[in-house]
Amino acid sequence: LVLQREESESEIRRRGGRTGRSVQDYLDRDSRPVPEVLRRQSHDDSLGLGDIDRTQYFSPQFHELEMERMWSRVWQMACHQDEIPNIGDATVYDIGDWSIIVVRVGSAEFKAFYNTCPHRGTRLCSEPGTYREFRCPYHAWTWTIDGKLKNIPCRWDFPQLDGDEVPLPEVHVDTWGGFVFVNFDPNAAPFSEYLGALPEHYDRWPLEDRPGSMWVGKEVACNWKGGIGAFVEGWHVVGVHPQLISFNGDGDGQYDTWPGQPNISRYIFPAAVPGTHLNYDISEQDVADEFAQCAAYFDVSLGDSWHVPEGELARTVVAARMRDMLGPAALDLDALTDSEVLDGIQYYLFPNFVPYGGVGTSLAYRFRPLGHDPNRCLFEVYVLGLQARPEPGAATRLEMRFLSDGEHFCDVKEFGVLGEVLDQDVHTLELSQLGVRSRTSRPGLKFSKYQESRLRHLHRTLDSYLGS
Ligand code: FES
Ligand SMILES: [Fe+2]
Repeated sequence: LVLQREESESEIRRRGGRTGRSVQDYLDRDSRPVPEVLRRQSHDDSLGLGDIDRTQYFSPQFHELEMERMWSRVWQMACHQDEIPNIGDATVYDIGDWSIIVVRVGSAEFKAFYNTCPHRGTRLCSEPGTYREFRCPYHAWTWTIDGKLKNIPCRWDFPQLDGDEVPLPEVHVDTWGGFVFVNFDPNAAPFSEYLGALPEHYDRWPLEDRPGSMWVGKEVACNWKGGIGAFVEGWHVVGVHPQLISFNGDGDGQYDTWPGQPNISRYIFPAAVPGTHLNYDISEQDVADEFAQCAAYFDVSLGDSWHVPEGELARTVVAARMRDMLGPAALDLDALTDSEVLDGIQYYLFPNFVPYGGVGTSLAYRFRPLGHDPNRCLFEVYVLGLQARPEPGAATRLEMRFLSDGEHFCDVKEFGVLGEVLDQDVHTLELSQLGVRSRTSRPGLKFSKYQESRLRHLHRTLDSYLGS
């Protein structure tokens, strides 16, 4: 079966000018009933077509404005709950001049404190670990793990504290999908409001049930928005990841932004389909074979089971193999449709969290600026398991593997071919940052209307904070 890549003018117009096959066309041929959430399509037309000011990617003044007006007021992902699986486990979330202690104080209860001593300001907690109490390393003021003052040596010398219990100052903390989020704004709106429609989208893929199985971090020489920008669109595959083009619909992704949902966006990126920019005909069998050879971080054995019968789509066959490879899982994989086990169904929660839905891609990303340098960010990849999470107490602590200078994602053998893909992204991001800082007579960046709508959406949400 050779796929016909030509399309009529009218068909292209029907898709708003996009060429290729739409995600919805592929869903029509899925082997299971397609959930309504994947049938939703939305483009917020008010995002417009304007240029983006390139200085936003490197100006120290802009960076400080982001810190003062945005990072100070948003819900941001601070850790995965498996980083602190037992009561008393604490970790540190740093961003800009903030350092926050996140501690588990109950089986499903967390608290977050400013990581600075009320006495003379010393950093209280420097590394993740299990704590019976928080004790300042300077003059030994001590608090319980839930922030109540336990002891001040020479208390008699602080008469001004009479009757004042000096608790550790708290910041708002909440959880969703197995991750812990913080907000430094005392007047922050509830997290549930901030999340908008996101939890409802995940009804079929409960993220909170999935254990954190791997966590890898790397410093990247780019602005944090550039980092997000390379992951919320997939159409750079033709330029950056040509090895993926024979089984990913690089130009056929569906990009959703919803009016009235300032904090979330989504793409659905079709897998096990011929690439939009392939310049040669490819059979459905070839697509399945290419997918099999490249299947990221799975132990794939090639064989007859990848055979695509005449008249069938590679997607159907590959989805069946994915169900075999992913199982046994806590989720009923047989109830999930092909798209849910195959496609990149990816969400973005402004500003720092990029989790996948479905079960085909078991990842979540986080990007955040490092210190006061707009040209550097920390990029982290969380891999989530599909087995049931062990009870708290039985779980081992999820620890970050930090890739130092000279180490690459492909050095993490568990990533399989994904490692190379991530390294390609990092390389491109650093080139992009170099270029965006270079002087030019053209200050504006020209984002695309549709495939970069999620990046336009990020900028608009950011603007809404900076303008006020
Ligand atoms: S600075 Fe913390 S006890 Fe003195
Ligand atoms: Fe990429």
